[in-house]
Amino acid sequence: MENFGARIASGEIGFPNLPFDPKPVAKIEAYARRQRGRFRSILLLGIGGSALGPFALDVAVNGPRPFRRKKVPAELWVLDNVDPLVLGRALEQLDPRKTLAVVITKSGSTAETMAQFLIVYDWLQRRLGRKKAAQQVAAVTDPAKGDLLDIARREGFELFFVPANIGGRFSVLSPVGLLPAALVGANIKKLLAGAGSVAAACRKPELNANPALQPALHQYLLDTRCGKHIQVIYCYSNALYPLAFWYKQLWAESLGKQFDRAKREVFCGQTPVEALGVTDQHSQSQLYMEGPKDKVVTFWEVAEDDYRLRIPKSFPKHSSTDYLGGHSLNELFRAEKFATELALTEAGRPNCTFVFPRADEHAIGQYMMVSMFQTAYAGELYNVNAFDQPGVELGKQLTYALLGRKGFDAERKRVAAYRKQKAALKS
Ligand code: PA5
Repeated sequence: MENFGARIASGEIGFPNLPFDPKPVAKIEAYARRQRGRFRSILLLGIGGSALGPFALDVAVNGPRPFRRKKVPAELWVLDNVDPLVLGRALEQLDPRKTLAVVITKSGSTAETMAQFLIVYDWLQRRLGRKKAAQQVAAVTDPAKGDLLDIARREGFELFFVPANIGGRFSVLSPVGLLPAALVGANIKKLLAGAGSVAAACRKPELNANPALQPALHQYLLDTRCGKHIQVIYCYSNALYPLAFWYKQLWAESLGKQFDRAKREVFCGQTPVEALGVTDQHSQSQLYMEGPKDKVVTFWEVAEDDYRLRIPKSFPKHSSTDYLGGHSLNELFRAEKFATELALTEAGRPNCTFVFPRADEHAIGQYMMVSMFQTAYAGELYNVNAFDQPGVELGKQLTYALLGRKGFDAERKRVAAYRKQKAALKS
């Protein structure tokens, strides 16, 4: 804890300070205001920590597509995967005159993002000409390095920076999350106010007063002492479901490590999985209740309903409809969650419930800040570096080598050796 506090104080770790920096907010809000009414679609080009947070924010605040809570200024299209069908069909459907491309990559070089960028920028230029196309691209990247920075400056794209001490999965409260959120109408000041409101509590040394330290310790002990190697996020809200994917990346990529800080081989990390309530009650719950005792379940529910629906009292002669009539769908939703919790508890399966007061910017900001601290503390407990991702980097480097990027000769040799091995096995 002290060790981690010192890393924040020295500026090595930057995410706890993001809610208190007003400068990017003013720039982003002014930019979003200027774009309002000009575009129907925001095309987000990015992956991992550069895509999961923006998508989670959009769906939490605006509701899942096509079931939006309100009219949004523009629809967010998150093109994280490079499945050609998705990008190809997206470009067939989008109107280039009404599309703003937001390319997000901290490193400024990730293959998926740069490939998407090349295709989308070419598409815009062919239809609008170079000058107009450049006005329809915003870039979010490192302030000092990376090819995207260079290209953005040369082409004259609007530029936003991810501070050097903020890594991908810890960047959602930087322009990475704030810019797309503002463009789709979210209140980013409220998001940061929520995050800022819990930052001090997350640094308290007392376990019972610290909302991040407690779950970090519980999950760590459940994993390392009780064999609960899988953490299920059982999300009873469609609007919050993408937030579970954001959390999953944060937890998995930060804690799944081969070596600890003393360079000992540890192969540690608890596997996070997501489930959607009630849908997965008819799919995964059987496994969670009666399968291997290797799971801990964290339920998510939202206290305040933003939508109410009554179930009509039709068909009273049928017992399967009679008892439902007169209740609300909200009651059924809550009863199902309660029933699952009860059944799991009776089966001796550890679980807890995280209650969001409502699915809005303030609550999501609070949750995100707590989760980032929680993950950082878990890193301290496992004694691993929660802020690096050597496994991900290796995958990136091998991809560069496979597609012929200069400077990856050692990786190219590895690829050739592996191919030879595979061929020998086949013959
Ligand atoms: O958390 C991380 O660091 C990664 O998941 C990155 O976000 C991801 O690999 C994308 O990297 P970049 O933003 O540099 O394109």
